[in-house]
Amino acid sequence: MLRKLLIGTALASGLAFAAHAEDVKEVQMLHWWTSGGEAAALNVLKGDLAKEGYAWKDVPVAGGGGDAAMTALKAMVAAGNYPTASQMLGYTVLDYAAAGVMGDLTETAKKEGWDKSVPAALQKFSVYDGKWVAAPVNVHSVNWLWINKAVMDKIGGTEPKTFDDFVALLDKAKAAGVTPLALGGQNWQEATMFDSVVLSTGGPDFYKKAMNDLDEESLKSDTMKKSFDNLAKLVTYVDPNFSGRDWNLATAMVIKGDALVQVMGDWAKGEFHAANKAPGTDFLCYRFPGTDGSVIYNSDMFGMFNVPEDRKAAQIALATATLSKSFQSAFNVVKGSVPARTDVPDTDFDACGKKGIADLKAANDGGKLFGSLAQGYGAPPAVANAYKDVVSKFVHGQIKTSDEAVTELVKAIDDAK
Ligand code: GAL
Repeated sequence: MLRKLLIGTALASGLAFAAHAEDVKEVQMLHWWTSGGEAAALNVLKGDLAKEGYAWKDVPVAGGGGDAAMTALKAMVAAGNYPTASQMLGYTVLDYAAAGVMGDLTETAKKEGWDKSVPAALQKFSVYDGKWVAAPVNVHSVNWLWINKAVMDKIGGTEPKTFDDFVALLDKAKAAGVTPLALGGQNWQEATMFDSVVLSTGGPDFYKKAMNDLDEESLKSDTMKKSFDNLAKLVTYVDPNFSGRDWNLATAMVIKGDALVQVMGDWAKGEFHAANKAPGTDFLCYRFPGTDGSVIYNSDMFGMFNVPEDRKAAQIALATATLSKSFQSAFNVVKGSVPARTDVPDTDFDACGKKGIADLKAANDGGKLFGSLAQGYGAPPAVANAYKDVVSKFVHGQIKTSDEAVTELVKAIDDAK
């Protein structure tokens, strides 16, 4: 009886058959989750693994969006020093898989039923050549506004439904002497905001053609020019000290009421959560004006490396914990994202989280779920970097006009392809 019970427990914990005496009871993880909200979310995972007896070897590489982390990862992998797993975005997973350095989690995936519970849009990036090479942690989406409620009340603002409404709202904040738009002047933040501007300006079909299919006609179209015009307009509402500012410091400006709004992925909500702020009373979450019904997504994945035998049990434990329903709820409530499985109840999520879950489902069902080009889900890293570079040069005045921006964008993407 006891023996049966023990075997049952081992099976349930996902460690069946794999664990043996010489296994290294440690998970080494490279990631860029160093802000307050991100660290709080990561603690949920560390706690779950500690309960199973796994030590956590942290490899944090600060820098939102993960560019610095990916440089560090490249060096580790080149030296043959694979972490158990690394945080990765979309096309980066596929690049490492193509390079033949990823492990194979297919057996675990089968046992845990990932094929059925993880949406196809994520499986496209976590399964390579029929093998599971990464465990999706969450689904983030970038087309959000994060607004300080007290400032909104003070200026008598209401939810902006169109780009023009948004501009009118920003004008109200300006007139009241509040910084209208909190932005961090780093290329990935500017490009993340521009993803939303393109969707708002051109609509869903245009976004897909330009930002996912990289269709040249769309990239050089008047609609793309208009998107750059709209971006230029938004930049006029940013404070003069925005260059180089970290994203979470921009979020803090909104949390404190020093700015009205930030356009950012829902990891920003993790910062509000960490500061004990509640949606509806302290802050408001609206879709970027003119993008209702569509979701531009990214998903953090734990790319699983082909580690030596004695580190595989720890990797399986990590992957199993990551995709467990309870973790998917607990972690994403803190992180600001929504679950990477379709069968996790929204009970524990706040109003923005519930909206995020419902929006994702509706967008997916309606064919309006699109990969973020800024966040690694629109095109391979070389193209995404070219895009970020052009957008940033435009924001900082090194590219002067929308005409020039479009020409540079087409050229940069072409060169990167
Ligand atoms: C994104 C990542 C999020 C969040 C953000 C800022 O790339 O998907 O999880 O951490 O960067 O660091």
